[in-house]
Amino acid sequence: MNMDFSLAYAYEKYFKIGAAVSHLSIDRYDELLSQHFNSLTTENELKYDATEPEEGKFTFEAADKIFGKARQMGVKVRAHAPVWHWSTPDWIFKDGDKPAAPELIYERIEAHTKALCERYNDDVYAWDVVNEATLDEMHKDQVGDSPVYRNSEYFKLCGTGFMEAAFRAMEKYSPNAQLFYNDYGECDPKRRERIVTLIRELREKGCRIDGFGMQQHHFVKPDFDEIKRSIEIYADMGLRLHVTELDVSLMATVDQSRGLPKPEDEWFDDFFRKASTMTPERFAEMDDIYVKLFEIYRSYSDVIDSVTTWGVADDNTWLDQFGIAPDLPKAKQYPLLFDTDHSPKPCVGRIIEAAR
Ligand code: GLA
Repeated sequence: MNMDFSLAYAYEKYFKIGAAVSHLSIDRYDELLSQHFNSLTTENELKYDATEPEEGKFTFEAADKIFGKARQMGVKVRAHAPVWHWSTPDWIFKDGDKPAAPELIYERIEAHTKALCERYNDDVYAWDVVNEATLDEMHKDQVGDSPVYRNSEYFKLCGTGFMEAAFRAMEKYSPNAQLFYNDYGECDPKRRERIVTLIRELREKGCRIDGFGMQQHHFVKPDFDEIKRSIEIYADMGLRLHVTELDVSLMATVDQSRGLPKPEDEWFDDFFRKASTMTPERFAEMDDIYVKLFEIYRSYSDVIDSVTTWGVADDNTWLDQFGIAPDLPKAKQYPLLFDTDHSPKPCVGRIIEAAR
């Protein structure tokens, strides 16, 4: 490691610097990982469908690869999202032809948690025990009667019981790791309120929740004051904070006052061109945003323990497949700290310099 130019080294006195990595692309980032990072997050490898696609049949090869790399680097892992509605296989919700009773779902969550913990506990410093369980009106099919909770299959069958089961099992089988709830839109006042309620209600039911994972996906220019306010609100609840999925794409920074266009609309091309064209000005704006975000994170380093980007370099970002909206064409995105050729963007030097 060249200590003069290392994010992880420069930030040792503030917080860990992490990257979410996939078992498929991890090898190509060897150099960057050992030079700049001292925490790894499993991108998809510890999700439910990746580890127990059929009841009792565990598949650990992909996750093992990431844990192997972490051991080689001498760092610990943020183990991400065993209980997440998007990646939970259908079998969990079924008992033969019938819907599973809540107790059966809780037993399954416990057995799953036990298996993960027995295999990986020694190398994990934090678990995202439950991911994204709050209501998001954008997902119309997951809006139910609750003003707080996402009407996922889990919630329909168990109410908040599935989260209690998940946190209780994790506390039992992984007593030494920090237990996190992780979510997005965490600085939007309406969503923040739901997250606060979720954590408060679970704690009232006796769950140990040590921290909150602020995803920090920036699709639009961030409201820095709202970020600071949010950090303070979460920290006031006695939560440790991790930034868990940072990226700055600004991909939705277009005039959306008319809503999203349909392909047949005459302004569709113009909208899409603006949203997907990278200009030197847009790169510079993204660079400044990264510098400002790290300035904020540093100023709250008494409560922030870890800052992780969702990916390592721009040659592999989930946003290339995500798009501005499901029906719109996808465009190459450049949301990370390192370029497609793995060279650091100007902000990396500025972020390191600011930490000295
Ligand atoms: C969410 C999840 C992550 C990941 C990203 C997109 O933020 O928490 O696990 O799936 O979406 O890749």
